[in-house]
Amino acid sequence: MIATAISRAAAGVCGALLLLAIAVPALAQSSSAQVPPPPPQGARFGVHLGVATCLGSNCHGAVDRPPGSVVKGNEYIIWSTRDKHHDAYRVLTEEKGIKIARALGLPDAASQKICLDCHADNVPPNLRGPEFHLQDDNVGCEACHGGASSWLGIHISGATHEENVRAGLYPTEQPDKRAERCLGCHFGDETRFLDHRIYGAGHPRLRFELDTFTAIQPAHFEVTPSYVARKGRITDMQVWGAGQAIALIRRMDAILDPRRQKGVFPDFVVFDCQSCHHMYEPYRPLPAISGQGPGSVKLNDANAVMFSVAAKRVAPAVAQNLSTHMLALHRASNEDWAAAKREAAAVRQAAASLVPTLSHHDYGREDIFAMANAVIALGLEPVAEFARVEQIALTLGAIRSQLISSGYIDESQSQATMAAIQAITASFPTEGTVKPDEFIKAVKDFQRALGR
Ligand code: HEC
Ligand code: HEC
Ligand code: HEC
Ligand code: HEC
Repeated sequence: MIATAISRAAAGVCGALLLLAIAVPALAQSSSAQVPPPPPQGARFGVHLGVATCLGSNCHGAVDRPPGSVVKGNEYIIWSTRDKHHDAYRVLTEEKGIKIARALGLPDAASQKICLDCHADNVPPNLRGPEFHLQDDNVGCEACHGGASSWLGIHISGATHEENVRAGLYPTEQPDKRAERCLGCHFGDETRFLDHRIYGAGHPRLRFELDTFTAIQPAHFEVTPSYVARKGRITDMQVWGAGQAIALIRRMDAILDPRRQKGVFPDFVVFDCQSCHHMYEPYRPLPAISGQGPGSVKLNDANAVMFSVAAKRVAPAVAQNLSTHMLALHRASNEDWAAAKREAAAVRQAAASLVPTLSHHDYGREDIFAMANAVIALGLEPVAEFARVEQIALTLGAIRSQLISSGYIDESQSQATMAAIQAITASFPTEGTVKPDEFIKAVKDFQRALGR
């Protein structure tokens, strides 16, 4: 799956949606599409009105851009035909979902809060409007954009984006806010979490990089001059950097939260999966790149490593501080869990201190090439942790996107970097494994394509 993730991102899906290739389904026209139903009593703010409320043909259920509309208008068609969120609930009712539930000793998946919290827009009953349908809406518009009851009224009468946000529309365009929303389900937060028990029951591994995943969702927005005028110029590097910072914070939260530690071990998801899940091969010492000896279980530090790449450009002192605490955290994780928690709190604080900067920093040409070089250098190190290799690959995709949109590479470089990313993708033969020689060769191709 990462294969598709990376090569689709590399194709620059963001601005080039294959709209013509979409088979347009008969759209359910909701008579009440234009008129918001009244919120249920007792909860006036943030009631989720349901996908049906958004898909009027002059709103977001159009085939072509409605006359005078600043947005594409076909967001519903993209979501319902090409976006996996549209199947998120359905997978719980199918064999894959049921198998996971059974392995956990549950009768089914589709009625379990633990699954619904990420596979549906599982808001409490008092926040569900009359047209809200848990099953049909899947992870619908309001799971990301927020319950519409408080803003739909002014929204349909032509309020500005700022006014909508002030009334309660979730600011998904802000890199840090977007990262928080997506990672709530794509990693977890204090209310929902994919622990190793659920993995043990067979759940696919979660992996995430905000810039790539925004593009391959696929994006139902286009960054046009009008978009920039309404929402500002939001760059790939801002989205990538904020995504890494929030992911790092969420990882540290998982270490710090006592509810996520059961039994003698911290939850295994804080570690690199391949630390435990690899073939037992005698006479093959593993490189110890995180300051730990061989034979120890390693924390997943992929987000920390990527965060440092950005931090070195925008706040070198924070980068230095983070690397000191990260090293101490790695050491402590196998010796003294109380000390590990203190270090995790310091790492968390360093990451949190840079969230606003990473979300808004205006990276110049020199910054972007320096970051590309830093990520390439990481890719050329002896490959050890898969999670790190995977983030390197996804990050090169985000950097490529940024180089193209800034006009810093020409058409032939764009094609050569694309080919290199496809070769990187091909160096991941199966889930969690990489062919190191092929990976390094492909990273070198990427480097050469940039003329470095
Ligand atoms: C923290 C959020 C979270 C929780 C909790 C969670 N999931 Fe998932 N699940 C996801 C995400 C995100 C994906 C998509 C992963 C990807 O492709 O990157 C996914 C993917 C899946 C898939 C694969 C879907 C496909 O298209 O092949 C199945 C099946 C699944 N989950 C079932 C379950 C079941 C059953 C439960 C409850 C026991 C559950 N999940 C709990 C977030 C969650
Ligand atoms: C998984 C999260 C997610 C879901 C589900 C989702 N969106 Fe979005 N949407 C986004 C993100 C991210 C953006 C881009 C950032 C922004 O401009 O807010 C966006 C942007 C938009 C935009 C702004 C386009 C522009 O030019 O300003 C519209 C309109 C929109 N979405 C409508 C919808 C509708 C309608 C649905 C349901 C059919 C939906 N979205 C479902 C995440 C989501
Ligand atoms: C309410 C939980 C939730 C939120 C919020 C959410 N997702 Fe998801 N996402 C899921 C689930 C569950 C799946 C898997 C659905 C399936 O496979 O049927 C998924 C799948 C995806 C996939 C497809 C992955 C693959 O392997 O093909 C992408 C891309 C994605 N999400 C991006 C995003 C982005 C970007 C955001 C934020 C703008 C976001 N998601 C917000 C729950 C969520
Ligand atoms: C500290 C060691 C450790 C780490 C780290 C770890 N696991 Fe496991 N995992 C185990 C053990 C032990 C089992 C149980 C094996 C058995 O029952 O035979 C297991 C079982 C599983 C299973 C059930 C199928 C199988 O292969 O046995 C899956 C799937 C799984 N883990 C996924 C993951 C994922 C994804 C991660 C990273 C997010 C991860 N694990 C991290 C030790 C670990």
